[in-house]
Amino acid sequence: MKVKRILKWSVGIILLVLVAWVEIAYWTSTNNCDRKTAAPTNPMKAITYCDYGLANLKLENVEKPTPNDDQILVKVRAASVNPYDWHFVEGTPKIMRMMGVGLRKPKDTRLGVDFAGTVEAVGKNVTQFKPGDDVFGGKGGAFAEYVCRRAEGAVALKPANITFEQAASVNIAGITALQGLRDKGKVQPGQKVLINGASGGVGTFAVQIAKSFGADVTGVCSTRNVDLVRSLGADHVIDYTKEDFAKGAERYDVILDNVPNHSLSECRHILSPKGKYVMIGGGGPNDSRWVGPFGRVIHALVLSPFVSQEMGMMMADANQKDLAILGDLMQSGKMKAVIDRTYKLSEVPAAIAYLEQGHARGKVVITLE
Ligand SMILES: NC(=O)c1ccc[n+]([C@@H]2O[C@H](COP(=O)([O-])OP(=O)(O)OC[C@H]3O[C@@H](n4cnc5c(N)ncnc54)[C@H](OP(=O)(O)O)[C@@H]3O)[C@@H](O)[C@H]2O)c1
Repeated sequence: MKVKRILKWSVGIILLVLVAWVEIAYWTSTNNCDRKTAAPTNPMKAITYCDYGLANLKLENVEKPTPNDDQILVKVRAASVNPYDWHFVEGTPKIMRMMGVGLRKPKDTRLGVDFAGTVEAVGKNVTQFKPGDDVFGGKGGAFAEYVCRRAEGAVALKPANITFEQAASVNIAGITALQGLRDKGKVQPGQKVLINGASGGVGTFAVQIAKSFGADVTGVCSTRNVDLVRSLGADHVIDYTKEDFAKGAERYDVILDNVPNHSLSECRHILSPKGKYVMIGGGGPNDSRWVGPFGRVIHALVLSPFVSQEMGMMMADANQKDLAILGDLMQSGKMKAVIDRTYKLSEVPAAIAYLEQGHARGKVVITLE
């Protein structure tokens, strides 16, 4: 009896402490907007946001960064927008906020990742880049006139025969497609690969990369994108408005799933016995606002050891080597970026709002002077 009472009290106290802790953490969650003082001495224009929500994005003057000994300073000529950016703008799925993104306000007030531009200055330890080099890659805060990035990180020389807009499209979407197919899907020549969401940022790169691996590629998209996906090299195109790929008779060796709108058992049903399911995407801003795709990820990981197929997900890991591989594919003409729309830096909110609708055809790009 006494033990039961002690247990009850202990659980109560733990819960109370937890609630108090979350409450305090929530109300003390802050960012550098609360500490802003003097105007920047060496200003540049950048997109910033002090609070979650698209309406809170601003184009303002911030301090132009200075490279440290291991960094390069890049004058950004183009950037591209990814669903990653709207996850941060909206702070969804909300579980992200508890994982360090900022409970009440975004901790990092800068936005954008993918960029292409020209090296303006290099730190004293940098040997692989020099001022004047055109480069592309990824770095937080890319919706800005300049970014500083560690020279050994995710940045590579831009092939001379592709535009800054094309190059800026590559980092997140291209790396995701490459690593999803090569590292997780382990795609081999002649294998049957299904790409669900073949007309989006990741999908348009994935169709071309899978073809470059010698796969037999099936792309899934809506009617208006059938010709586009075929023109990228897909051997078969399924129009999802007319046909459900999960109900077909075909069996695939790899499914790259950018739009997880079918259950895992439906996906398993069309996988070959040793096939691989690679989950990439996870719904729009209003789908499952608390946990987003995490429930499905856990389901896939728990299921995988008990079935003959490999069920898993992947998180893109941007790095110089893979950017160089993607650069080579573009230089040789085996891969191109499909650019849907371009916006100016001041129009980043409109660009993100467009991407949030979930129907971009390829990439949405920001151009800078
Ligand atoms: N795991 C990672 O590391 C990682 C990295 C990058 C991206 N992602 C995620 O992967 C997903 C895709 O990214 P993205 O950059 O390709 O997004 P995106 O460019 O916004 O994708 C939009 C595309 O999805 C297509 N689509 C929408 N509903 C569809 C459906 N029911 N069936 C087939 N296609 C459909 C649209 O085609 P229609 O207009 O024809 O409908 C559109 O072309 C996102 O959820 C993103 O968050 C994950």
